[in-house]
Amino acid sequence: VVQVARKLADQCKTIEDLRQAIMDFNECELKKTAINTVIADGSVNSEAMFIGEAPGRHEDEQGIPFCGQSGKLLDNIIKAFGYQRADSYITNTVFWRPPGNRRPTPEEIAICRPFVEKHIELIAPKYIILVGSTAVESLLGSAMPMREVKQKLLKYNNKYLDAPISTFVIFHPSYLLRQPLKKKEMWSDIQFILNSAAK
Ligand code: URA
Repeated sequence: VVQVARKLADQCKTIEDLRQAIMDFNECELKKTAINTVIADGSVNSEAMFIGEAPGRHEDEQGIPFCGQSGKLLDNIIKAFGYQRADSYITNTVFWRPPGNRRPTPEEIAICRPFVEKHIELIAPKYIILVGSTAVESLLGSAMPMREVKQKLLKYNNKYLDAPISTFVIFHPSYLLRQPLKKKEMWSDIQFILNSAAK
């Protein structure tokens, strides 16, 4: 099934091709229980690409990533980076809501990964911001704990890219909503990114 996704992703030349390929893809079990396929929001010309986990209930209902509670917090995080939501680019690691908002399984992540990799090539952002541990698992590998990847300038690469892309990791907003005491650490993570990205 991953090979099916890979072949489809390989053939995409534009964001519109990719969008269509994801919409037409029926091999991910999550699609069976989801209302909508949720792909992206914002501007394809953005310098920063924010990659979250998976659509939740509101996202599934509306077909827009990060449009619920954690989306409101993400909007504030985006503002702290000096962008507006409309001029940043927001997507996820999987494109369908997992039942009951459970974490996507490694298989579901692997099935969607070719599309995520192609997505990164087509947007060609200056920076990737991985939002939470599921995005880290999808793009950096499952063995990377948050404390080891935060506050670091990472270089992300995949088979579609000519050169690595500067990549940073932040907490997921839904984690911050559950653990408000971590907000302070979040602002220092953002400060680190702002200082490193300018260099
Ligand atoms: N959480 C995510 O990771 N992505 C969304 O789109 C919404 C909530």
